Amino acid sequence: MSMLLTSRLLVFSFALTIFFSCSKNDEPAPDPCNGVSYDVQYFKTEAVGNLNNGSISINYPVGDTISYQLNSGSFQTSPNFTNLSPGNYVVTVKNQKGCTDTAQISILNYGPKYAVVKQLITGYCGPCHLNGGNSGGKNFDTDASIISSWDRIKARAVDGTPSFMPQAPNSPLSTVDKQKITDWVNAGHRQSD
Ligand code: HEC
Repeated sequence: MSMLLTSRLLVFSFALTIFFSCSKNDEPAPDPCNGVSYDVQYFKTEAVGNLNNGSISINYPVGDTISYQLNSGSFQTSPNFTNLSPGNYVVTVKNQKGCTDTAQISILNYGPKYAVVKQLITGYCGPCHLNGGNSGGKNFDTDASIISSWDRIKARAVDGTPSFMPQAPNSPLSTVDKQKITDWVNAGHRQSD
């Protein structure tokens, strides 16, 4: 190769280097978190009685590259948080690139008798009255709807007036289950009972 050609090549490659390094410096590196968002899914249990026994388990995202933080605590690899007092929490999920997303989660306070009734209704009164089910104009998806219907719940599931739930597979309830509703009603039929 002639001297001239070699030096031209050198100049050219030098110019190329400058061109690429300049254009690289002008544009900021793309944010690796652009477009990263998580539709955080979780399961929770409420705090029952005066015990701080609420819990949160993150179901999505999960995996060994994801870590989890409750409020301003430190990040942990376990998606489970236990021994929670009633209140509002922020759970932050973080992936291996440091990208984060959050979920706001409330842990409610249930009285022990109400917690048992809520469990019973969740177990026995669907699908007719749960997940949008509204048989007889009654839906029990919210705590407020259960609490305001306490008298009709007792009438139809404990006393059988005017009748027990006709098509319900667990109707009438066992004596033990009926007693759970009666105990809650007698205690004052509130969420805190
Ligand atoms: C398989 C479906 C089904 C299940 C399960 C079921 N119900 Fe019903 N429920 C109905 C239907 C249908 C009606 C409307 C007809 C009637 O009132 O008998 C109704 C009506 C009601 C009403 C409103 C009428 C009133 O008398 O105030 C209440 C309250 C009620 N159910 C409570 C319960 C409770 C509590 C449970 C669980 C322990 C339950 N139901 C389980 C089908 C069901």
